[in-house]
Amino acid sequence: MTMAEETAGDWWEVEALYDLCFAPGRSALSSYRLRDGVPPIAPLCLTARDEHGILAGAVRNWPVCIHGHLAVLLGPIAVHPTRQGEGVAAMLMRQCLAVAADHGWDRVMLVGDAPYYGRFGFEKLQGVEMPPPTNPDRVLGLALRDGAWDGIRGHVTQATDCK
Ligand SMILES: CC(C)(COP(=O)(O)OP(=O)(O)OC[C@H]1O[C@@H](n2cnc3c(N)ncnc32)[C@H](O)[C@@H]1OP(=O)(O)O)[C@@H](O)C(=O)NCCC(=O)NCCS
Repeated sequence: MTMAEETAGDWWEVEALYDLCFAPGRSALSSYRLRDGVPPIAPLCLTARDEHGILAGAVRNWPVCIHGHLAVLLGPIAVHPTRQGEGVAAMLMRQCLAVAADHGWDRVMLVGDAPYYGRFGFEKLQGVEMPPPTNPDRVLGLALRDGAWDGIRGHVTQATDCK
């Protein structure tokens, strides 16, 4: 399995993978409103391909703003159904978090299942509110620097609000 930064040529293939792996209407999710018109964080958009070049998994990340503080909103992440359970998502997650730390990001958040993302160190964020309807129990965060989430509370809005 080889990981690489997503290129323009990968775009449709990644879209097709997401369409396959997520319920129809994924772009209606509130998290997509935070991404509208905002470029993704290119070094944190990764593909994983097998030895034949077949796309097995992908992750994209966007910046978001919480009350003046920038964070990485991790996801969407998806792995093709025929490749699930082989650790592809774990590989993408770990690479993503390592690259984010290298690029100076302090904190990462996502909306997902705590039983899965807990293994990477994500914990429920208190007082960080995604646009509705989002189950607050699924709003999780990880500090890439000690204390990076301390005292950060408020609504998650588009990254442009942090400028
Ligand atoms: C979630 C997903 C990305 C995991 O990809 P993957 O490559 O299969 O994950 P890994 O191989 O790294 O990890 C597999 C393990 O995670 C567990 N797991 C997967 N999804 C889980 C979930 N939602 N909650 C709890 N555990 C989960 C599996 O049971 C497996 O457990 P094991 O290690 O004890 O066998 C993949 O299942 C997927 O694309 N799902 C559809 C899209 C999706 O839901 N994306 C996440 C949105 S938040």
